Amino acid sequence: MVMVGIVPSRYSYKMIKESGCFVVNLVGKDYKKVFDYLGSHSKRDEDKLAKMNVKLSGAVKVNAPILADCPVNIECTVVDAVVTGSHEMFIGKSEYVHADLGLVKNNGDIDFSKINLI
Ligand SMILES: Cc1cc2nc3c(=O)[nH]c(=O)nc-3n(C[C@H](O)[C@H](O)[C@H](O)COP(=O)(O)O)c2cc1C
Repeated sequence: MVMVGIVPSRYSYKMIKESGCFVVNLVGKDYKKVFDYLGSHSKRDEDKLAKMNVKLSGAVKVNAPILADCPVNIECTVVDAVVTGSHEMFIGKSEYVHADLGLVKNNGDIDFSKINLI
């Protein structure tokens, strides 16, 4: 299970509500410039993904794109939600995990120590 807390004024909030899914993209330090931009501008105001040349790939299980240049992407479907004072906490069931090939150990686990996380 994965939980994300989203403020209702975010464009992302509307997308999660309408689609019932979301993708968690783990971000490496090499992606910081894009991360900073996406985290401080709203898709309500501009096509920020196009502006930052974000590469998207199709998800396998959910109706949402994944950020292709992130080392790990976790596709989730919303199974519950809890409204707090400022955020709505969406609880997601992990449906499919993408990981760069070099990160996957022989037993199938992801070697998170190899990711230079932001
Ligand atoms: C480091 C960082 C963490 C953030 N975490 C959250 C968060 O947990 N929940 C949230 O609603 N907004 C969070 N934000 C703010 C949104 O990323 C920001 O409001 C963004 O413009 C929303 O874009 P959208 O309207 O296209 O969804 C965070 C921003 C940054 C820079």
